[in-house]
Amino acid sequence: MDYFLKTFSLQKEREGRVKEFFSKQITPLVNAANKHAIDLEIGCGHGHWINEYAQQNKTKICIGIDLISKRIAKATLKKENAKNTNLFFLKAEACEFINYKPKELVFNNVFVFFPDPWPKKKHHKRRLIQDSFLKLLKLHTHSKSRLFFRTDHDEYFEWTKTQIHNSDSWELSNHDWPLEHSSYFQELLPNFSSLSANLL
Ligand SMILES: C[S@@+](CC[C@H](N)C(=O)[O-])C[C@H]1O[C@@H](n2cnc3c(N)ncnc32)[C@H](O)[C@@H]1O
Repeated sequence: MDYFLKTFSLQKEREGRVKEFFSKQITPLVNAANKHAIDLEIGCGHGHWINEYAQQNKTKICIGIDLISKRIAKATLKKENAKNTNLFFLKAEACEFINYKPKELVFNNVFVFFPDPWPKKKHHKRRLIQDSFLKLLKLHTHSKSRLFFRTDHDEYFEWTKTQIHNSDSWELSNHDWPLEHSSYFQELLPNFSSLSANLL
């Protein structure tokens, strides 16, 4: 977040970028058939997984966001090489991105692969999966939306299970993963755990 904030230090500027991303790239594509098929990968890194997912799900609108410019640039290059015209990337912070999205658009599946685990107790508050995040996500999804989470970090996995178990917005579920295809970090970290959740 810190390097992101250095690049875009003004909140108004960050809000404007997200709004422009939606108004220019996403909203014009949304219609009655795909309005509940907008899938988001948070922290998409180099875009390995979401590029394959978009390739295999041409009727969906797929979005990948990450804080790091170089990763978004690599992900975008892959998208262009694969001609994934249904896939869009933006350098953005997850909670801001969700908050500044047009209210009438909602996410369908939300994917989080190998998020930063922030292992030190004093840094747990920086973890993405928190009750505040789950509450926010509920406001920007629809009744059949799902959250998919994967990590190599056992303690963060247990933490996420507990956050969802204690949540009044989401419950743990047993959905199959829509696509098994390695992300960049999954290649490096073959021992991982996965969970899915749906709205209560
Ligand atoms: C460990 S990497 C995993 C990348 C990719 N998901 C994979 O499995 O290869 C975590 C990624 O999440 C991004 N990230 C961390 N916090 C984020 C946030 N709040 N919003 C968006 N991206 C974030 C980081 O920049 C980093 O690229």
